[in-house]
Amino acid sequence: MLRNTRLGYGWVAIALHWTIAVLIVGQWTLGKMMKSIADQRLSFDLIQWHKSFGLLILALAFFRLVWRLANPRPALPAETSGLERQAAGWTHRALYALMIVMPLTGWAIASTTVLEIPTLAFYLFIVPDLPLTRSDAAEALWASVHDVLGWVLLGLVLLHVLAALRHHFLLHDGVLVRMLGAGPPVNRE
Ligand code: HEM
Ligand code: HEM
Repeated sequence: MLRNTRLGYGWVAIALHWTIAVLIVGQWTLGKMMKSIADQRLSFDLIQWHKSFGLLILALAFFRLVWRLANPRPALPAETSGLERQAAGWTHRALYALMIVMPLTGWAIASTTVLEIPTLAFYLFIVPDLPLTRSDAAEALWASVHDVLGWVLLGLVLLHVLAALRHHFLLHDGVLVRMLGAGPPVNRE
């Protein structure tokens, strides 16, 4: 089944979840790595790949948000407390927000640097800059915001993974298994 039901995730939501998860972990690692490379040529290439994959994440995240709004949300197990439901709901909203805001702040760095290096998406086409004023101060500001939000994103992902592992190994309720596209439906409310 392609679409979600109240019982489980469809293949589109599952494919988007895992593709974006892998891309974000790779993107985060590449972001930290590319800053410590001395070789200028290699560093230029890595930044272009970072910008390309970051914009791909932005496009996929938009599509995912639309898909999420257009599909039913699978219900949590009946025994999930109100507090846990709130925590899950807010963590998911924050993850969606960061999947979109994080690439936008990266795009803002690329658009404010006085070096005016074009963003070559996958070396295929030039992506226009955002309409922002170029200055060292603006670039430094956006770079700090990008860095701080990157840590917030990492923290939320760790929290999210711990919650998923808790469902699987302590609660044995099928919540992780249904995001893998297998298993019986959870005992929903
Ligand atoms: C979800 C998507 C993204 C993630 C998780 C991410 C993550 C990161 C991280 C962790 C760093 C290192 C920060 C530091 O140590 O100061 C970084 C740096 C950077 N990112 Fe991203 N990034 C994303 C998207 C983008 C996009 C779309 C662009 C541009 C179009 C971009 C442009 C940059 C640039 C130019 C730097 C270097 C900043 C500097 O020199 O201080 N990023 N990114
Ligand atoms: C960068 C990494 C990740 C991000 C941004 C992310 C984001 C999200 C979001 C926004 C949802 C809400 C459902 C949706 O709209 O698709 C979700 C659900 C879920 N995620 Fe992740 N996720 C990440 C990594 C992981 C990992 C590594 C695991 C497993 C260890 C995991 C397990 C789950 C599970 C089990 C659900 C379903 C929760 C439910 O049924 O209510 N996620 N994820």
